Amino acid sequence: MSTEVEHYKGFTVKPILPGFGAEVAGVPFDQVPLPQETIDALIELSNKYAVLIFRDTGLDDARHVKFSQQLGELEVCPKFGGPDQPDRFSSRYLFDAGNMNLDGSIVKEGTRRWQYNKGNALPHTDSSFNQHRSKYSLLLAHLVPSVGGNTDFFNVRQAYADLPEEKKEVLRELVIEHDLWHSRKIAAPEEFQTVTAHEMAAKQPAYHKFVQTAPNGNETLFIAAHAKRVVGPQVWDLEKSQKLIWELIDHCTKPEYMFSAKWNGPGDMVWWDNRTSMHRATPFSDQMERRDMRRTTVFDDGPYAQGAMPPMLDMPAA
Ligand code: OGA
Ligand code: MN
Repeated sequence: MSTEVEHYKGFTVKPILPGFGAEVAGVPFDQVPLPQETIDALIELSNKYAVLIFRDTGLDDARHVKFSQQLGELEVCPKFGGPDQPDRFSSRYLFDAGNMNLDGSIVKEGTRRWQYNKGNALPHTDSSFNQHRSKYSLLLAHLVPSVGGNTDFFNVRQAYADLPEEKKEVLRELVIEHDLWHSRKIAAPEEFQTVTAHEMAAKQPAYHKFVQTAPNGNETLFIAAHAKRVVGPQVWDLEKSQKLIWELIDHCTKPEYMFSAKWNGPGDMVWWDNRTSMHRATPFSDQMERRDMRRTTVFDDGPYAQGAMPPMLDMPAA
């Protein structure tokens, strides 16, 4: 696979790495909802490149949501603060990935939300902590900082392909417990030593096979900083589980599998495939500058959508 510019069904496609990441121009976002053949062509590109970047789309909240709904059913954002927590956006389908409060002020260093956001800087894939996992995320920029705040992406599909066959054989059998609060604890151990009842109720652990089939038919790894323990076919202890998981995260995040997406301005949108890639937030002057980023998340409807059967965790470790 090359990185030469490709003209595909009316789009101009500039690959970033061979087979991973592409800037796509020529999508008529002003005409959302788009014809089914346009959606089908974009899904083909997504299956090929996993991460698609669209510049200056002109999308607003309503058309962002509408376009995303053409790709599948959308996740509703949880309210970790409980049912009385006010909505920041017009739609509950929009997840807030920015650093602003309801009144437009900056989320202050040290607050729980600031601590929560730290977890996004760990390599992850969205919603692996849900039993009904998601296939796509579409992150739309509304305000970007002048410096920094890129999003890094990792080609997990290729990183898995490059593992030795003996390793793949071990991994193919395994079922992994994913837990949002696990990655929060790694990023902010003191703050997330305790998790509130609303938080815990909103996100309980989920179980997924480690090795899965990617939309292009190749095998891939389903991995994220949310991955906590090996729970099947046997339960491993936390230390042994984390050693394996982070050995693999370190492998998948080697420079040859990574590119860094720069946000040029409002309207830029990145659509990534959570089944075959990882990503992470990167620093910017978050106490000085505003970054307003809104994300829709599309449920998976494929064979791995509902994950693996919850294991018998109360069984003694073998
Ligand atoms: C996300 C996310 C990273 C960023 O929205 O899922 O991880 O750079 N965002 O905002
Ligand atoms: Mn994310």
